[in-house]
Amino acid sequence: MIETLGDYKRTHNCGELRKEHIGDEVCLMGWVNRSRDHGGVIFVDLRDRWGITQVVFDPTVDANLFALGERMRSEFVIAVHGKVRLRPAGNENPSLPTGEVEVLVSEAKILNTSETPPIYVSDEGDEDERIRLRYRYLDLRRTRMQRNLIFRSRISKTVRDYMSENDFLEIDTPVLSKSTPEGARDFLVPSRLLPGTFYALPQSPQLFKQILMASGYEKYFQIVKCYRDEDLRADRQPEHTQIDLEMSFITEENIYSLIEGLIKKVFKEGLDIDIATPLPRLTYKESLLRYGTDKPDLRYELQITDVTDVMRGSDFKIFETLIQGGGIVRGFTITGGAAFSRKELDDLIAYSQKLGSSGLAWMRLKGDQTDSPIAKFFAEQQLQALRTTMNAKDGDLLAFLAGQEKAIVPILGELRLHLIEKTKMQPKQPYAFTWVTDFPLFEWDTERKGWAPMHHIFTMPREQDIPLLDSAPGEVMGRLYDLVLNGTELGSGSIRIHIRELQEKVFSIIGLEQEAARERFGFLLDAFQYGAPPHGGIALGLDRLLMLMLGENSIREVIPFPKTQSGACLMTGAPSPVEKDQLREVGIRLLEP
Ligand code: AMO
Repeated sequence: MIETLGDYKRTHNCGELRKEHIGDEVCLMGWVNRSRDHGGVIFVDLRDRWGITQVVFDPTVDANLFALGERMRSEFVIAVHGKVRLRPAGNENPSLPTGEVEVLVSEAKILNTSETPPIYVSDEGDEDERIRLRYRYLDLRRTRMQRNLIFRSRISKTVRDYMSENDFLEIDTPVLSKSTPEGARDFLVPSRLLPGTFYALPQSPQLFKQILMASGYEKYFQIVKCYRDEDLRADRQPEHTQIDLEMSFITEENIYSLIEGLIKKVFKEGLDIDIATPLPRLTYKESLLRYGTDKPDLRYELQITDVTDVMRGSDFKIFETLIQGGGIVRGFTITGGAAFSRKELDDLIAYSQKLGSSGLAWMRLKGDQTDSPIAKFFAEQQLQALRTTMNAKDGDLLAFLAGQEKAIVPILGELRLHLIEKTKMQPKQPYAFTWVTDFPLFEWDTERKGWAPMHHIFTMPREQDIPLLDSAPGEVMGRLYDLVLNGTELGSGSIRIHIRELQEKVFSIIGLEQEAARERFGFLLDAFQYGAPPHGGIALGLDRLLMLMLGENSIREVIPFPKTQSGACLMTGAPSPVEKDQLREVGIRLLEP
């Protein structure tokens, strides 16, 4: 028997009742989280968005009511009337804010029933993620997902408040749009009214926010969905949300201080954590040298040291030949690592080879002795100099890789993370931010055999490097900055080009000829001709920020309806085939599979 609300009016939510409500007549509504029969009395944990309250069906109050209570199983939707009372001594539940009280039910209704759920909402949720995604409506009822989505809503509000306090305007940009290049493939939408043509879903609002600057809306922001058809990972979804902003008449420093203020506020309000500002800064070059990546995880001290010069001139042929050929030697000092067994060292070598190195050399420092198969190739002075340069002491392990810089830097970066994990290194702090600055404007694309933009093609070159655009594009530095948190790229931005000729030059360096550039970005180039101000901006990945703040290991945990690795929504079944008629309307015929 399923009933309607009738004259029931909810007086409180399930997270609200405390000792001071004792004696009050209340009406609660929600879901049966769990129900237990204890010695002829039924205890139902009633759950809603705000919490859980224990409600009690006692046969001595009313036998029919008790019978109704007996029918209430997990995920039934119910409404109860009753009086708040103190829980008997010893029955309190200190883990619930409502845990000191309970409601003795005097009247109740079943508003809807539930079949036995395929996943239990009151469980932690360690079943296969595909099951969770398939039954997302149940998974979302869980405490963890509720915490995450409520947190997401709060943080979005904090961001809006902050941006608005700083005089930013929230302006929306179209979703049916033209390709905005951010390095991924576009999702295309065929047009019915103009057959044979397509909209592209925006990879970001980049072009529109620059147009808004040209239009004089000096401080723009948006919390905005972006769509990218790229290979998915734990921190990548085909649609993600950015905190996107742009300003005019600014330099990098304006962006740094604005974003630092935002981060401070978000961490304070979200987690009650004080983030010290200004945030550290690293140049791209230093970051690669010391951490082997432009997304360094600075929670850990471990750094890479260049020892090419110290190693030079030894009898160790492998290193010497590499060094003579312009190669480098870099390594780590692993505190206490002299205790590594041969097996552990062999595993480390095998791991570095899996990453693509030709091998890994090691030295265990034991007292004055250097225990290593290669120690004999080095002069005593050299070994001493190594200890000094690498800041190493008795009991440490030195590990080295040698090769051409481009090849071994990323391997060193991966190896650093592996060593951190393997030696269970303790983080210095839970959240370590850094700006990474001074990126080259272009990188060489070996496949295309041409220059490609390091971030995107709208980035302003450093003024003093503009003359190098023709002669040495690889040496031009861009006015680019990334924000990195715990080894994840959280945000990225730049000061933009606002001058047509310069933009056209950059297009031509990456091989985008005038005609093609005009076809794709003509409106932006035209806008630059009518008084575009100097401008710049940044976008932070909201999903990544939330994932890191909540200590989750995938952005799927902070997105209500995420896609799987293959881009599928297991709940709705998207993407799915469409009717032939629908295809015909948009002038599309499918290839035979
Ligand atoms: P970028 O492409 O670096 O810059 O994106 C900005 C930030 O968005 C997040 N992000 C993603 N998060 C989840 N899934 C994805 N597939 C994904 N792709 C990006 C990251 C990233 O740092 N228009 C420029 C910004 C600018 O220059 O103002 C842009 O989109 O956290």
